Amino acid sequence: MTVNWAVTTYDSAFGYVSAHGAPLVDLLDPQPGERVIDLGCGTGTFSAEIAERGAEVLGIDGNPDMVAQATALHPGLSFIVGDAHDFTTSESFDAVASNAALHWMTRDPDQVIGQVHAALRPGGRFVGELGGAGNCAELIAAMQTAWRVFGLGEPELPWYFPSPAEYATKLEEGGFTLRLLEHADRPTRMTEGPGGAADWVRAYAGRALADVPPELVEPLLERVNDLAAPALRRESGWVADYVRLRFAAVRKPDGGASLLTGPTPTPASAPASAPTGPPPPGAPL
Ligand SMILES: C[S@@+](CC[C@H](N)C(=O)[O-])C[C@H]1O[C@@H](n2cnc3c(N)ncnc32)[C@H](O)[C@@H]1O
Repeated sequence: MTVNWAVTTYDSAFGYVSAHGAPLVDLLDPQPGERVIDLGCGTGTFSAEIAERGAEVLGIDGNPDMVAQATALHPGLSFIVGDAHDFTTSESFDAVASNAALHWMTRDPDQVIGQVHAALRPGGRFVGELGGAGNCAELIAAMQTAWRVFGLGEPELPWYFPSPAEYATKLEEGGFTLRLLEHADRPTRMTEGPGGAADWVRAYAGRALADVPPELVEPLLERVNDLAAPALRRESGWVADYVRLRFAAVRKPDGGASLLTGPTPTPASAPASAPTGPPPPGAPL
């Protein structure tokens, strides 16, 4: 899956991705001296939050432009280019964390979980937040209807939004003991996407627009806005219908029962968040 992430505008346009992810660091509860991977680190904002707690962070992202930006913004931290499906590490880590990235890793979610397992020491934590089942359902329905109205095929949607049961099974079959799993609505104001659903499609579903004849793009997106507005446009502005899956899991010891040697994940206090090419505008996905 290739997403055209506009790295230069990513932080300003989608800064609120990280803002919504902030409490995730409380669930991770990094300890001074721990070694933590931030998987799908983007420009490194979440990595920096982890490092502020005294942990040693390695940010991994498939997009070299993201890694370059993260390195420029956080010169004291380590970032490398790597695909979550097949990265390797020379040491074992105490925790792997991931914010708003796992749902973009669609080639094989089981393989991603397997790589995380391999990177962790027994007892190491895997803590993450991703789009869950039902994420952006209104936005996606508006897209599908508009595409149909314009006689186009099904829009190509590049995400993996698992149900809690599905992801729990994957984690458990992947060698983890689940400690916490939340599946919650997270309506998110599109503060940086005044053009509403149309901006969101341009930012996050640009691939679906790639095959649309250029002269149809604007009327198509206008139709998306018309269709999505009743559910998502408020007097105060557009709201994306995000649904988040948040979890904390622990790697089982090899060949035995679960052994929790790291800090016990505690629920966050705050309420219930490819490798190449440009991140998008509007609500961060
Ligand atoms: C929405 S951004 C989230 C960035 C960051 N975690 C944050 O909270 O701001 C998703 C990130 O996942 C990365 N990504 C997508 N697929 C990936 C893959 N297969 N391997 C590694 N990174 C990937 C993208 O390049 C992008 O930087």
